[in-house]
Amino acid sequence: MKILFLDQSGKPGGAELCLIDIAKPYGDCALVSLFADGAFKHLLQQNHIPVEVLATQAIQVRKESNLRQGFKSLGQLAPLINKVVKKAREYDLIYANTQKALVVGALASFFSRRPLVYHLHDILSQEHFSQTNLRIAINLANRFASLVIANSQASQTAFVQAGGRTDIVEVVYNGFEPKKYQTDKSDINKLRQQLGLEGKFVVGHFSRLAPWKGQHILIEALAKCPPEVTVILVGDALFGEQDYVQKLHQQVSQLRLENRVKFLGFRSDIPQLMAACDLVAHTSTSPEPFGRVIVEAMLCEKPVVAAKAGGVMELVEHGFNGFLVTPGEPQELAQVISTCLQETEITATIASNARTTASQRFDVAIINQQIAQLLSHIVSG
Ligand code: UDP
Ligand code: GLC
Repeated sequence: MKILFLDQSGKPGGAELCLIDIAKPYGDCALVSLFADGAFKHLLQQNHIPVEVLATQAIQVRKESNLRQGFKSLGQLAPLINKVVKKAREYDLIYANTQKALVVGALASFFSRRPLVYHLHDILSQEHFSQTNLRIAINLANRFASLVIANSQASQTAFVQAGGRTDIVEVVYNGFEPKKYQTDKSDINKLRQQLGLEGKFVVGHFSRLAPWKGQHILIEALAKCPPEVTVILVGDALFGEQDYVQKLHQQVSQLRLENRVKFLGFRSDIPQLMAACDLVAHTSTSPEPFGRVIVEAMLCEKPVVAAKAGGVMELVEHGFNGFLVTPGEPQELAQVISTCLQETEITATIASNARTTASQRFDVAIINQQIAQLLSHIVSG
C-alpha cells in the first residue's frame, strides 16, 4: 500500500514522533510531505523515511484563529493543495497527521479521489481550540475522512461531543519500541555526573515549554519539597512560547531555586535522561490527549506522577503503575514527590508494574498491525 502522509510541522512534537513509527514500516511506499522545513525532516531522513518539504513559509493560522483569518489562509493554501493533489494521484491513501494537514488533505482527497485518514492527536474542545477551528476540523473530518484514528478514548469522546461521526472514529494508542528504553547503568551514572545530579533526588519533566504543559506547577511544587529534590526541565519552546520561558526563569529566581532547576533544552537522548531521574512528572493543566512522555517513563521503569485528565487516565492507574494528581495543584504534587522520596520500596514496585503494563499495551509492532488492518479496510473498501 502506498501512503502519502501530510504533516504541517517542521518541528518534532509528539504527533510527529508518532508519525515516524507509523510511516517506517512502509519504507519507499511512504512519502511524508511537510508544510514546513526543520528538524523533523532530518529525523525522518535518519529513519530512512522518504520526505519532501512542500511549503517553506509557515501557514498563518493558529489554534485560536477566527473565520476571517481562516479564509485568508485558504489563499495561501491553494498552491500547496495543488501540489498535494498531483502527488496524491501516485498514492493509494492520504494520511493527515495534523489539523492543517486535514484541511489540505480533505481538499486533495476530493480532487484526487483518494481516501483520507485523519490521525487525531488533539482533544477537540474549546479549552484547546477556537470555535472556528473546531468547526472546520469536525466538518472536514465528517465530510471527507473515511477513518479518524484518535490517539485516546479521551480524544475520541471529545471528537464525538464536538459533533464528529461515531462511525468513522477508532482509538489507536501511540506505539513504542520497548528496547529503545533499556539503558546501560554505567552510561547513566556518567550522565548524572555530567549534569551534576549525583546525590540528588531528580524529578524530570520532559515536554516542550508551553503554559498548558505546566512546568510552572512543578517549580511551585519544588519549593515545597525537601532540599535534595532537584528538577530537570527537558524540552524547548517549539511554537513561539518565549514569554513563558522567560516567566519560568523569573519564577525560578524569585523562589531562589537556581541551584535546584536545570533547563536542558530540547534533547534527543530521552531514554537516558529519564533513566537518570528518580521520578518523572507530567503536569499539564489542560487535558492531555495522550501523553507520550508518560509511557516513555513507564518503559524506562521510572515512577511517574501525572495530571489526572484526558488520555492520561487511560495510561496510569493510581497506586498500581503510577501516581495521579489533580491538574494545577502544586501542593498535591509536592506530596507525591515527598512520598516517592521516602517510600522507595513501594515506588520501585509501582515502577516495575509500569514497565510491564506499558510494554504489553503500547508495543509498536502490535500498534502498527492495528493501523495496517484499519488502512487495508479503507483501501479495499
Ligand atoms: N521530547 C524530545 N525531546 C525533548 C522533549 C520531549 O524528544 O527535549 C519528546 C518526548 O520524548 C515525547 C514527545 O517529545 O516523545 C512529546 O510528546 P507528548 O505526547 O508527551 O507531548 P506533545 O508535545 O506531543 O503534546
Ligand atoms: C499530541 C498531544 C499529545 C500526544 C501526541 C501523540 O501532540 O498533545 O498528548 O501524546 O500528540 O499522539
